[in-house]
Amino acid sequence: MDLYEGLISRRTIHRFDNKPVSDDVIRLMLNAAIQAPNHHLSEPWRFVVIRGSSLKDLAHYRYEVALAKARKQNRPQAERIATQAREDYAMLSVVIAVVQMLSDDPYRQLEDYAAVSCATYAMTLAAWNLGVGTYWGTGAITRYPPALQLCQVSNDERIVAFLRVGYPAVVPHVPRVPAEEKTLWLI
Ligand SMILES: Cc1cc2nc3c(=O)[nH]c(=O)nc-3n(C[C@H](O)[C@H](O)[C@H](O)COP(=O)(O)O)c2cc1C
Repeated sequence: MDLYEGLISRRTIHRFDNKPVSDDVIRLMLNAAIQAPNHHLSEPWRFVVIRGSSLKDLAHYRYEVALAKARKQNRPQAERIATQAREDYAMLSVVIAVVQMLSDDPYRQLEDYAAVSCATYAMTLAAWNLGVGTYWGTGAITRYPPALQLCQVSNDERIVAFLRVGYPAVVPHVPRVPAEEKTLWLI
């Protein structure tokens, strides 16, 4: 797959099949991530590869977060929603936490977030090139203390993404507003 084709065809994958993702694929993704552009060569990233019983723990934390949210919103199906949140992770062989190391300088922090986002996107593209799909997840789980503890994330760090990684069962179609409608050409 050439780079442009990868950029155009990549999609967020919501449904994965059961085939496990190898450590070799994960290493290629991580190696792509660390090539991302980053101002002052701050290299403000860290990665946590979550498998096995650690992934089960994380899936359980997702359940807890989803249950608390659904109950707060008085959703009648709270238990079912939370169980689904756990199952979303339970069916995966790996999730990668992408962590930003936080600078004391707010502007640096902003630029570093951009760099870590570039790194995350690079991982999604490196995976896609190998036929592997990803899902960039955020939400309350990225701030949930037990999840932070599991990933050994300290007070001067934040989780930018929980990246689900797996072989796609379905590749969705997600249309975009054409670039022409988003572009001003000054000539
Ligand atoms: C910073 C960031 C956070 C995201 N967080 C979530 C999320 O928590 N849940 C989710 O379903 N998708 C999340 N996404 C994925 C977007 O929903 C997805 O990229 C969008 O629907 C466009 O689909 P595509 O990636 O297939 O083009 C996130 C994407 C980014 C860049």
